Formats: sequence, C-alpha cells, structure tokens
Amino acid sequence: MVINLSKQYSLLSNWVSELRDEEVQKDRMRFRRNLERIGEVAAFEISKHLAFEEKEIQTPLGIANCKVLKDQPVLATILRAGLPLHNGLLNYFDKADNAFISAYRKHHRDGTFEINLSYVSCPELEDRVVIISDPMLATGASLVKTIQFLRAEGHPSAIHIVVAIACTVGIEYVFRSEPNCTLWCGTIDDELTAKGYIVPGLGDAGDLAFGTKVQM
Ligand code: URA
Repeated sequence: MVINLSKQYSLLSNWVSELRDEEVQKDRMRFRRNLERIGEVAAFEISKHLAFEEKEIQTPLGIANCKVLKDQPVLATILRAGLPLHNGLLNYFDKADNAFISAYRKHHRDGTFEINLSYVSCPELEDRVVIISDPMLATGASLVKTIQFLRAEGHPSAIHIVVAIACTVGIEYVFRSEPNCTLWCGTIDDELTAKGYIVPGLGDAGDLAFGTKVQM
C-alpha cells in the first residue's frame, strides 16, 4: 500500500515545498526540521494503524480508562540522510527501540553504483512493527537491501517505510521485492536521472542536512 500524504491539503505540503526550494535549503536547520516535521506527522498517521490496549491510569482524582500503544515499534533508519526524519518519528514514538543501518552508494567510474551496507546496529525484530525512514526513495536499491537485511535478523510483524519524496520507479522496485510493506510518502515525483537523483526532487538530502561529503 502506498500512502501519499500530499494527496490531502495540509501543512505537510508546505514543508515539502520548503525542502525543495533552493533558497530555503540554504537554512540547513530548517531543512532538517522540515524532514523532522514530516517524520512527526508520519508517526501520528502510522499510529492509527497500530494495536492499542485499555489501561487504567491513576490520576490525582480517580481512575481513567485510557488507550495506550500496546507494543513499541522499532524505528530503523539509513545513515546519514535518514537521521532528521528518524528523529521526527522518535519524537512521537518516544519509547521505541532503534536500528541504524549504514547503506551507501559506492560509485564506479562508468557512472553506475552499487549499494554497500557497512555499520548495522539492530534490536530484536521478531514479531515487531518496524518503521524504516529514508528521505528519498530513488532507485529503491538501498531500501530493499536494508529490508532484506532486517528480515534476515528476525520476522517483523509489519514493515512501514517513511520517505519525504518517492520516485515512481523506486516505488515499483520496492513493491516488487516487498509487496506487503506500507509506504508513507510526503510526495511522489516521476523522473529519475541516470545517476539516481529524483527530478524535480530536492537534490542531495544528506548534503543539505549535514554538509557536502568527500566521495569515497
Ligand atoms: N538521494 C538523495 O539525496 N536525493 C535524490 O534525489 C536521490 C537519492
């Protein structure tokens, strides 16, 4: 299932437009915060699909019957670009466990690239809801590799993917490999360059959030 959060008019579309705007992008803190806000809204929307249970809460004046989240999800993100979006999810799922995956594009001289996973830190995944965040779903290669890795570590009960901008080709690639995932995206673009950048997209999310890197 693909949920495009821009289908409805909301503040989220404003934040996506600011993420794309090369003038606003000069403010790195605003860029990160806009990704974080999208993560927060996505967390709220995803929470409507999670299991809740009744709990009696002692207030200073009596007992209140409350609904509380039954199980904590695992929030997984792909370093480094995923961090602000992840932080937004963590602001709302504030008791969640976390997984960090370092997936990077190893570029070849001919312009092609492959996805390498290096650092991974992961909690128990068996029968848990996993929410993976990555700001840009471009080719989908790093997401698929990440999900395959996580599935080899345990058997999540559900996998949600949160992205700010998804590309049609990438969505198709992810769902060919992972048909049962739910994808939450800020918006969807149709074009992908030969170098794997989304058009119009926003540029390099990691560089815009954290500064340009030296190509390894
Ligand atoms: N990663 C980015 O940061 N931007 C893109 O357009 C695609 C992947």
